[in-house]
Amino acid sequence: MPADVCLSRLQISHVRNLESVKLEGLRRVNVFYGHNGSGKTSVLEAIHMLGMARSFRGSIKSLVTHGEPHCTVFGVLGPAKTTLGIQRSRSGEVKIKVGGSPIRTVAELVEYLPLQVINADSFDLLTGSPGARRQYLDWGVFHVEHRFFDQWQRFQRGIKQRNQLLRRGKMLTDELSVWTNSLVESGEALSRYREAYFNLLIPRFKQIMAQLAPSLGGLELRYRRGWDKQLSYKEALDGCVAADLEQGYTHVGPQRADIRMLINGHLAAETLSRGQQKLAVCGLKLAQGQLMTETGRGQCTYLVDDLPSELDREHSGLVCRQLAAMKAPVFITCVHKKDIESAWPPGDKQDLAMFHVEHGSVSLQ
Ligand SMILES: Nc1ncnc2c1ncn2[C@@H]1O[C@H](COP(=O)(O)OP(=O)(O)OP(=O)(O)O)[C@@H](O)[C@H]1O
Ligand SMILES: [Mg+2]
Repeated sequence: MPADVCLSRLQISHVRNLESVKLEGLRRVNVFYGHNGSGKTSVLEAIHMLGMARSFRGSIKSLVTHGEPHCTVFGVLGPAKTTLGIQRSRSGEVKIKVGGSPIRTVAELVEYLPLQVINADSFDLLTGSPGARRQYLDWGVFHVEHRFFDQWQRFQRGIKQRNQLLRRGKMLTDELSVWTNSLVESGEALSRYREAYFNLLIPRFKQIMAQLAPSLGGLELRYRRGWDKQLSYKEALDGCVAADLEQGYTHVGPQRADIRMLINGHLAAETLSRGQQKLAVCGLKLAQGQLMTETGRGQCTYLVDDLPSELDREHSGLVCRQLAAMKAPVFITCVHKKDIESAWPPGDKQDLAMFHVEHGSVSLQ
């Protein structure tokens, strides 16, 4: 199902300092500007909650306005006017409605409003643990290959069971081999989907980086699937049984997959400047959005928090140009109105809606 993504209306209640905000007049690119602490990031968090049922920073408890029992976000999507509504209480209770009818799982929700966040935490993609990069990769595979999620779930169940068994510390060979076999099947499938996706991603990433930062022509991405590439997954698991039993967990497999980014053969995380890292992160995120559109899965919505930080004017302008060229829906924050207004390509300015955020109130300019 291609995502019907452009938000045309948004209503936010009790998200941080946003007590009650109604946004009409949204366009494809919506800029939220205002002083520190005015509520700009909170607007992006509210949209993130609408699409993913959680915030991109902190716990749900910290997202709900102090003293209120729950927060609510309601949105209208695209020409079909699909409605999305979500309410979350401090205690974690969640109610999700699509088109007025309740839905049960977040996995069902995320197909309606695929989101990409670019913020200060996005640096984790380069400098953080492999888990952040697996999450990035799996987001992409999930949105272009719908058979992936089933295998992913099977693998998560399988590895949990196998690790429990290993932790018991007894050599229950038959039971262990049942879980090993089921893990082999889902692990191989999961890995094939990831690898196929990664191979599609690379040329898009390269093409985008050539526009964003031509001087980083030596950037290279490498995928590591989590076990020796000369071996089948079964062979790799069999080769590690003794270590698995001794330490009580499964050493090899897709749970250890990673993406390495190198620049002229050196680790990018240890070599690139902060601004260059931000450009590389933007390249990764933009490449996913482009691939999703090209594979007919619709467009993802970009939530870009404080684009100008770390970037000089020229590079802010280049990121804006890429976002404009992709025709993706964008919600973007900055401190001064002109930060984005002047960076956006002159020919695409009609796509911009400017919102001033002040003490938790948001007004269309
Ligand atoms: N649970 C909460 N209840 C009420 N207010 C909160 C809550 N959590 C945070 N705030 C306040 O909400 C305000 C908005 O925060 P937000 O992060 O959206 O600001 P911002 O406009 O993005 O600022 P900056 O430019 O510094 O990034 C802040 O003043 C913050 O102290
Ligand atoms: Mg902020």
